[in-house]
Amino acid sequence: MANLKGRNLISITDYTKQEYMQILELAAEFEANPRQELLKDKVIASIFFEPSTRTRLSFESAASLLGAKVIGFSNPAATSQSKGESLHDTIKMLSAYSDLIVMRHNKEGAARYAAEVSDVPLINAGDGANQHPTQCMLDLYSILKTQGKLDNLHITLVGDLKYGRTVHSLVQAMCNFNATFHLVSPVELKLPSSVKMHIKRAKLDYYQYTNIKDAVAVSDIIYMTRVQRERFSDPLEYEKVKDSCILDLATLEGCQESMRILHPLPRVNEITTDVDKTQNAYYFQQAKNGVYVRQALMAAILGIK
Ligand code: CP
Repeated sequence: MANLKGRNLISITDYTKQEYMQILELAAEFEANPRQELLKDKVIASIFFEPSTRTRLSFESAASLLGAKVIGFSNPAATSQSKGESLHDTIKMLSAYSDLIVMRHNKEGAARYAAEVSDVPLINAGDGANQHPTQCMLDLYSILKTQGKLDNLHITLVGDLKYGRTVHSLVQAMCNFNATFHLVSPVELKLPSSVKMHIKRAKLDYYQYTNIKDAVAVSDIIYMTRVQRERFSDPLEYEKVKDSCILDLATLEGCQESMRILHPLPRVNEITTDVDKTQNAYYFQQAKNGVYVRQALMAAILGIK
C-alpha cells in the first residue's frame, strides 16, 4: 500500500474512499491472522493527553501483535509538560525516539499542529471535539461486516452530535457512500453546520429528530453516543441534556432484524444493559474490530504492507 507510506492520518478526509477500502481489506487480513511479526524493528509512541481505554489499548495491542515496541504515556502530568515543556518540544522528542506517533489531545487542531512538527508520521487518536479518524475506520469496518456493504445505507446518529468527534468523522466518511442520515439529538446538541455542510455538498438527504423512536424502523445502523460531559463549560447545561436519548428494549420495537447498534464507547447510560443481549447489539465486537483496523493503519503507514 505504497500510497499510504509515511502519511499522517489527522482527519478522515485526509484519505480517499479508495484508501479507506484498502485499509478495510487489510484489516480483514489481520482479523484472519492477527499475530505477525511485521513491525518487530519499529517503535510506536503512544501519547495520550486525554483519558482513553479502547483507543490507547487497542493501538498498543495491535502494535504488540505485530511485534513492535511501544513507548509513551497516558498521564501527561508525569511528563515534562508538567514543568512547562511545550507540545512542540514534546513532539520533537517523541519523533526522535519512534517511527510513528499515535496522539490523543484535548484541543481541536492539536493533532494537525503536532504532525507539522513531527519528523515521523502521526495518527490522530482524537483531538477535542474535532475528529477521531481511526474510530471512523473501525466504524466503517463494522458497518461493512454487519451490512455486507457501505453504499446506500440509512445511518441514524444519536446523542451528542455537537461534541461527538466520532460522529463528525463518520458523517464525513459516509458522504462517500450515498448514505441517508437520520440525526437524533436534543436541540442543544445538534450536528454543527460545519459538519452538516459535508452532507449538503454531497447532495445527500438528512432528517433531524429529537426522539430515537421516530428513526428506528428505517435504520440500518443506529450509532449511539454518550453526551460528552467533559466538553461542557456549564455543568447545569450537561445535567439538562444528559438523559435526552436513551436506547432501551422498548425503543427497539419495530427495528429491522439486520439493524445493528454501534457505539464508540464508553457507554454511560444511553444504552440500557438489557439491549446487550439482543442480536442488534454490536458495540463490543465493534471495539474489538479496532485492533485489526489499527494493525492495518500502522502497517500501511510504516510501509510494511
Ligand atoms: N472510542 C473511544 O475513543 O474510546 P476511548 O475513549 O476509551 O479510547
